[in-house]
Amino acid sequence: LFAGPVDFLKGVVAMEGLPPDDRPEICFAGRSNVGKSSLINALTNRKGLARASNTPGRTQEINYFTLGDGHYMVDLPGYGYAEAPVAVVEKWQRLLRTYLAGRATLRRAFVLIDARHGIKPVDEDIMALLDTAAVSFQVVLTKADKIKDKDRERVLKQVREKLAAHPAAYPELVLTSSEKGEGIATLRTIIAGID
Ligand code: GTP
Ligand code: MG
Repeated sequence: LFAGPVDFLKGVVAMEGLPPDDRPEICFAGRSNVGKSSLINALTNRKGLARASNTPGRTQEINYFTLGDGHYMVDLPGYGYAEAPVAVVEKWQRLLRTYLAGRATLRRAFVLIDARHGIKPVDEDIMALLDTAAVSFQVVLTKADKIKDKDRERVLKQVREKLAAHPAAYPELVLTSSEKGEGIATLRTIIAGID
């Protein structure tokens, strides 16, 4: 999947702009700044493929990438706090939710959670939306390099407990670091198994 060329296809700002729903796709959702774009770069081994930055609200469009076997991989704008005008943020937030609940070919949403912070109320809102829309989702913990070993178990426990209440959630968690590479190969294998 990641062995062949991975290409940026397009950035989408409205549902009408989505590419034809003629093939399976996966997406990365999560709070602003959680590390969605960085994870795409780590998975594809292409540093500047998806634009990442320390400013929450960096990704402002639904960005489509094509994977080697023709699947689409989608980088989403973040939810929650963003450094952008309120009216603009509200527009992406609506688009993001419409996309997550309404994309027929969306096979799995990866919901990224900062390993230091665990699941926040805004994450629960998105998870509830995915439950209602019957979109399977899987939690990926990010920035594992920033968490101390003694805090890992506590966060993992919080996440497992919260996920138990979500029928659309996969129980399997993946702990990743885009910086250090932890969990990246595991996540590639998981994605390769999605058809
Ligand atoms: P938005 O597009 O604004 O929603 O953010 P995003 O979720 O795409 O986050 P992005 O990938 O832009 O990363 C946000 C910040 O976190 C950047 O400064 C990254 O360098 C940093 N970051 C991302 N992943 C990791 C990681 O695994 N470890 C560490 N230490 N920093 C990370
Ligand atoms: Mg981004």
